[in-house]
Amino acid sequence: MKFFIDTANLAHIKEANDLGILDGVTTNPSLMAKEGIKGEENILKHYADICALVDGDVSAEVLSTDFKTMVEEGKKLAAIHKNIVVKVPMIKDGIKAIKWFTDNGIRTNCTLVFSAGQAILAAKAGASYVSPFIGRVDDSNWDGILLIEQINHIYSIQGFDTQILAASIRNALHIVRSAEAGAHVCTCPLDSILGLLKHPLTDIGLAKFLEDAKKM
Ligand code: E4P
Repeated sequence: MKFFIDTANLAHIKEANDLGILDGVTTNPSLMAKEGIKGEENILKHYADICALVDGDVSAEVLSTDFKTMVEEGKKLAAIHKNIVVKVPMIKDGIKAIKWFTDNGIRTNCTLVFSAGQAILAAKAGASYVSPFIGRVDDSNWDGILLIEQINHIYSIQGFDTQILAASIRNALHIVRSAEAGAHVCTCPLDSILGLLKHPLTDIGLAKFLEDAKKM
């Protein structure tokens, strides 16, 4: 399973990249706004900065919702760097845009996916990635991991090659369960990635080894 970081924060991206296990980055308009990135020029520059930091796919989201404007926006985003993947919302015009991008050699990530039916449509349109938001599914009292399993099962038996990108990760357990459920990629905030490191018995064991090392 590939590891992406879900942030537009350059310091977090650098920290995760320095671990040597980072395969890419996802962003969204909320994450970009959180970093205070405003205006087309700054937005395009920020994506270029991220691409310079990480050698892997970087999802950059379109901000419009009609086919024609999404295509124009997506072309500009894709021109920034070969690793840019155009992120498109799961709406009717979004599906049309994903099909257009696919036919024109631009890779896409279909975002805001909450059902298996939506995931089938995204795959039919040729999306490179589909992003089920498992944390938000859990928030609505359904099971986000079950959704990953269902999409994985459908894609396997139907032979779709769209990659399942588990998104809206809230903790380290979500990462482990996404891996078990067959997600190809997990995009996570830095805290969740670092959360995988933690176990109290590791801390206790290391403290004891360091103590005993003094007697060696
Ligand atoms: C996906 O790519 C989104 O950026 C993200 O995972 C949304 O997560 P949230 O539900 O924590 O906002």
